[in-house]
Amino acid sequence: MVEPSWVFALNANELKENTLKLVEINDKHVLLIKKEGQLYALSNRCKHMGCPLSAGTLEDYVLRCSCHGWRYDIKNGEYLGSRDIALKVYGSKIEDSKVFVYI
Ligand code: FES
Repeated sequence: MVEPSWVFALNANELKENTLKLVEINDKHVLLIKKEGQLYALSNRCKHMGCPLSAGTLEDYVLRCSCHGWRYDIKNGEYLGSRDIALKVYGSKIEDSKVFVYI
């Protein structure tokens, strides 16, 4: 098993405020979101039936899946219908104008 490490995702200027940006890192699809200057990195796979959350919509800090409307808090990945269900949340940071994900 590969130990997690900080992996380059994209240049920071490619990440716009309030938009969903899908990147592939080590064969994993990671959804990057910049909101009020804060960076969030979540699994792109909806916990309901696996739809890609990159096709969803963002309202405030809530990400809504486009398939059946499940809603997640981007700050902690929690599904708003049950705290027992959550998206995987990855560490993320911007350094030297580059975005890195801990994966
Ligand atoms: S697959 Fe996302 S709500 Fe059903």
